[in-house]
Amino acid sequence: MSYQVELLPSGIVFEVNEQQTILDAALAQNIAFPNRCQVGACAMCLCRLKKGTVTYQLEPLLTEKEQALGWVFACQAFATTDLVLTFEE
Ligand code: FES
Repeated sequence: MSYQVELLPSGIVFEVNEQQTILDAALAQNIAFPNRCQVGACAMCLCRLKKGTVTYQLEPLLTEKEQALGWVFACQAFATTDLVLTFEE
């Protein structure tokens, strides 16, 4: 099963399958996705969910408020639906 991820503001669209994180999927398709540690520590890959839902194998260190605002660690998150993610503030 794979899902479609749209990145804003660039409008880039890529596919992610159930076994790969959003970051892994983007990098595998040569998409310049901000990242550094790839283990959920540096917060470079933080973006916000505008549409859809994600799941984690290891819950990232986000407060309930941050989760409610839709912050996502792309290097740790797996898509469970089609997604729209934004890097806009
Ligand atoms: S790449 Fe460092 S937290 Fe995701």
